[in-house]
Amino acid sequence: MATLKLAAVRGMNDLLPAASPVWEWFEARVLDWVRSYGYQLIRTPILEHTDLFVRGIGAVTDIVEREMYSFEDRSNQERLTLRPEFTAGTVRAAIEHSLTYDGPKRVWSMGPLFRHERPQRGRFRQFHQVNVEALGFAGPDIDAEHMVMLARLWKILGVTGARLEINCLGESDERMKHRVDLVKYFEQREAELDADSKRRLTSNPLRILDSKNPAMATLLNETPQITQYLGVASRRHFDGLQDLLAKAGVEFRVNPRLVRGLDYYNLTVFEWITDQLGSQGTLCGGGRYDPLTEQLGGKRTPAIGFAIGVERVIECLTQSGNIDATAHTDVYVLHQGGETASQAFLAAEQLRDAGLDVIFHAGDASLKSQMKKADASGAEFAVIIGEAELAAQSAAVKPLRARAAEQRIVPLANLADTLVSALSEIEE
Ligand code: HAM
Repeated sequence: MATLKLAAVRGMNDLLPAASPVWEWFEARVLDWVRSYGYQLIRTPILEHTDLFVRGIGAVTDIVEREMYSFEDRSNQERLTLRPEFTAGTVRAAIEHSLTYDGPKRVWSMGPLFRHERPQRGRFRQFHQVNVEALGFAGPDIDAEHMVMLARLWKILGVTGARLEINCLGESDERMKHRVDLVKYFEQREAELDADSKRRLTSNPLRILDSKNPAMATLLNETPQITQYLGVASRRHFDGLQDLLAKAGVEFRVNPRLVRGLDYYNLTVFEWITDQLGSQGTLCGGGRYDPLTEQLGGKRTPAIGFAIGVERVIECLTQSGNIDATAHTDVYVLHQGGETASQAFLAAEQLRDAGLDVIFHAGDASLKSQMKKADASGAEFAVIIGEAELAAQSAAVKPLRARAAEQRIVPLANLADTLVSALSEIEE
C-alpha cells in the first residue's frame, strides 16, 4: 500500500531553521521594545469559547461569519474556537483575574492566530501577531503612545516607508446617526453597489467603506463622513491625539474611510501601511475599544491596543537584506573518535560553563568532513582533540574566520579562558 505523503495544512507554514535567525532577531528586538514602554507579557490559551469571539469581535464581521476554526469539544459539547486574534482573549483574562482592580495595565502577547482566509502573499491561515493592549486608560495620550511606540519600532527594525493612517469612529450614538445617513446614501445609489456591499447594507454598512473595489471609488469618495458626526468629547479626543503626534514628530494622515474589520472599536482607529508588500500591505492595525470589557461582562474599562502582523514585517526585513540571517555559534568541537570523543564531549560542556555557544560533533566522521561542518556552522573557532592532544591533555584551537590564521595548542585547563578572551577580542 502506498503511504500518503503528509504535508502541512494549506495556508499554514513551517518556520525552517534557515529562516529562523530573522525571526529570532525580530523577537529579541520586540522584547526590548515592549519592556522599554513598561508592557508586561500575558499568555492566554490558543483555544477559547466560540462565544467570546462572537460577542467580542461581532457576529456580522468577516472573521466570525466565515473565518473561524470552530469545533465541538469531545467531552462536553462546548463550541470552541482557535483564536483569530488576541484582544478578546486578553480582555476575557483581564476580567477573569481582575487585572485592572488596582489600576490600568499595559500588556503584550506574541503567538499564532488562525483565520480561514484565502491564502496569498502576506495572508495565511496560521499567522503570528505581536499584540499590545493598554487596559484602563481613557485619554488620547495612550493612543499617541501606541503610535509613537510603533514609529520607534520601525526605526529599531530598519523598516522604512511605513505610513500611519488614523481615524475617529466616535461613540455609538454618533456612529448610529452616521450609519442612518450612510444607509440612506447607499440606498439612493444602490445600483452602484457590488453584491458584497449590498449584503452589508443591512448587516454592517460601515464595512462598505472598507471596499477596495475600484468600480465603487466615486461612490465611496462622496459618502457622509463620520468626522462630521463627532460630538465635542470625541472631537477633543481626536484633536488631543493629533496634537501629541505632531509634537512627537510622527507623520500621519487622517483617513475618514478607515473603519477596520472588527466591531469592538470606538473613537481612535489606526493602521500602518507599506507599499512594499503588494495588496496585503497593512503591517499593523489597532484602535480603542472602550465598550468591550463591559460587553464581555466586566466593569467598563477604557482600552486601546494594536497588533503587528509578524509575517509581513519579517518579509520587509528579509527584503531589506539588512539582517544577518546566518546561524552563529562560538565554537565547534571536533575529535577522532574513541577516548578523544568523550574528552571532547566534556570539553564542550566546560566551554558552555564559561558561557560560550558550542556545537559538539556528534558521531564519527573523518577530521576533514568534521572541519567542513565546523566551517558551515558559522563558528568562530574549531577546537580539535585528537590522539596527540588527548595524550598531552590539550586541544588545538583553530580560528575559522580569519584568513591564514594559525592553529595553536592550548592546555585543556586553559581552553575556556583562551577562547573567552579570543572571542571578546573579535567582538571589539
Ligand atoms: P487585524 O487588523 O485583524 O486586527 O490584524 C492585525 C494585523 O495582523 C494585520 O494588519 C496584519 O498585519 C495581520 N494579519 C491579520 N490577518 C492576517 C492573516 N490572515 N495573515 C497574515 N497576517 C494577518 C486585530 O487582530 C486586532 N485584534 C488588533 C487590535 C489589538 N486592536 C486592538 N487591540
